[in-house]
Amino acid sequence: MSTTESTTESAAAEPAQSMLSQRVGSFLAFAPLAVWTTWHLYSNLAAFQGPQQWEQAVSSPRAPLVEVITSTVVLLPLVIHTVWGFRRLRIAKYNNGSYSNFDNLKFLLQRLSAIGLVLFLGAHIVMARFKPLITTGRHETFADISYEMHHNPPTFFVYILGVLAVAYHLANGLATGGLTWGFAATETARKRLQNISYLFFVLLIGMGWGTIFALWNAGEHQRRMEPRADSPAIPAEAAR
Ligand code: HEM
Repeated sequence: MSTTESTTESAAAEPAQSMLSQRVGSFLAFAPLAVWTTWHLYSNLAAFQGPQQWEQAVSSPRAPLVEVITSTVVLLPLVIHTVWGFRRLRIAKYNNGSYSNFDNLKFLLQRLSAIGLVLFLGAHIVMARFKPLITTGRHETFADISYEMHHNPPTFFVYILGVLAVAYHLANGLATGGLTWGFAATETARKRLQNISYLFFVLLIGMGWGTIFALWNAGEHQRRMEPRADSPAIPAEAAR
């Protein structure tokens, strides 16, 4: 049995009119979501350079209009892709019990990682973006995130698993997107895309887990900061 036969949605559940929705959901997954996510993981590597560099790259305040535009450009496609994704989750036929091949496993993992992503991104966006903004009027500081990473094991493990889900979902999505957009029409093209997706997975996981390690390391001697609107973003000893 071929991969497509064993893993895709049934023709009845996928009427022609949903072709457009398939393309829109897939397109938004790549631009801007995948591009922004890759950039975000890359920017976070500034954690290796120190507090100021990380805050400059990741959490420095921007003009209010820029904040609104950036948030809309990222969050709106995320919401649309998530709604689209839940529909795909619902109409998919899961038959991993009957056909336990590797492609079927990847199909299932794409969907399990999507559920993990909903939970992780929900927690990450609230804790790293909205909570600091509401309690201190600022973005999250290097002091706070590195302290939590080192001294709060649940934070550490949630980030490890969250980055794993992001890396898998995005890298495997690159391969399935190639099928959606017709870039993998032949077996050779499919294999090439698959290999690129494996490399992409290693790159994403390397950037994400590398940043977690840098923050965990820096958090060892970090003090917890009190949420005061007038306190400096970086404690004096951490900035040195
Ligand atoms: C950082 C956020 C996310 C990124 C960058 C992302 C990226 C992608 C990419 C590139 C694809 C492949 C599209 C294709 O095959 O045409 C995909 C597929 C998918 N995404 Fe996401 N995604 C994200 C979050 C989510 C969330 C929160 C959900 C929640 C439901 C989700 C559900 C799905 C599903 C179910 C598929 C498989 C669609 C299919 O093969 O039919 N994604 N995603």
